[in-house]
Amino acid sequence: MTKLKVCVAGATGWAGSELSQAIFAANDLELVAAISRSQTGKTVGEVVGIDELRAPIFATVEDALKTKPDVLVEYTKPDVAKSHVVSALKSGAHVVIGTSGLSNADYDEIDAVAKAVNRGVLAVGNFALTVVLLQKFAEMAAKYIPHWEIIDYAHSGKLDAPSGTARELANRLSEVHEAALDVPLEKVEGLRETRGSRLQGTQVHSIRLPGYVISLDVIFGMHDQKLILRHESGTSAVPYVDGALLAIREVGKLIGLHRGLDSVMQF
Ligand SMILES: NC(=O)c1ccc[n+]([C@@H]2O[C@H](COP(=O)([O-])OP(=O)(O)OC[C@H]3O[C@@H](n4cnc5c(N)ncnc54)[C@H](OP(=O)(O)O)[C@@H]3O)[C@@H](O)[C@H]2O)c1
Repeated sequence: MTKLKVCVAGATGWAGSELSQAIFAANDLELVAAISRSQTGKTVGEVVGIDELRAPIFATVEDALKTKPDVLVEYTKPDVAKSHVVSALKSGAHVVIGTSGLSNADYDEIDAVAKAVNRGVLAVGNFALTVVLLQKFAEMAAKYIPHWEIIDYAHSGKLDAPSGTARELANRLSEVHEAALDVPLEKVEGLRETRGSRLQGTQVHSIRLPGYVISLDVIFGMHDQKLILRHESGTSAVPYVDGALLAIREVGKLIGLHRGLDSVMQF
């Protein structure tokens, strides 16, 4: 069987190292390269403790792409993610984006490049199945309930705000309609910032405190009743693996940018 060749940018990180080990264990996938500045010159196996995992680690995407991967997984930082993605697309690879913090303008640019080179990009703010289901349930609720707000919680060291999960959810709910606001933001008295940020028609509030890992509430409010959908992650990166493997296997069937794992799932 021909294996799908995969390069993981960020293979030595918290999420990327768990995924790299799962790619190594999969019969239909081959990890051919990885990107990490601090571990350049080593193999991924040396970093994660699996001798047989001999994929080399490169400092730059240009060097890593010389291994001709079919798919590049972007799992680094938002400030370098777009340039990794664009380089990969131009080299002929499809791309799975796990990194959070890219803006809608970044996604528009990535979509244009992907369409120009006939390649697929699947950007997934959260690969966990429980989050994919929360997104679906929230879309259903938004069809019937005009008012909602999102609260995203993370540890104090998380660089980006709001989280990729919150951005993706706001983006999806905007396709249903904007959340209603009984007091328009410009009429708020006191500190308007405390009402959160308006992101694609949703008020989003980001809490960053030690003690949190990653969780999210979307609260739908109606007269005398509320619906609260809550997602909580544990401390390991295991929940993100199965969804990322599915994205790697399916992204080659896409052209242009698609957001959300459900683009390649059956419901
Ligand atoms: N979509 C999802 O389900 C999901 C799940 C978990 C995390 N994430 C997101 O994925 C991203 C990574 O998270 P993480 O917790 O794994 O981070 P992390 O532990 O800090 O790992 C980051 C990885 O990226 C590499 N890196 C950082 N800057 C780089 C650069 N300029 N050039 C090349 N490589 C670079 C790091 O290696 P060096 O420092 O050695 O370069 C490391 O391997 C974040 O945006 C996070 O929010 C998404």
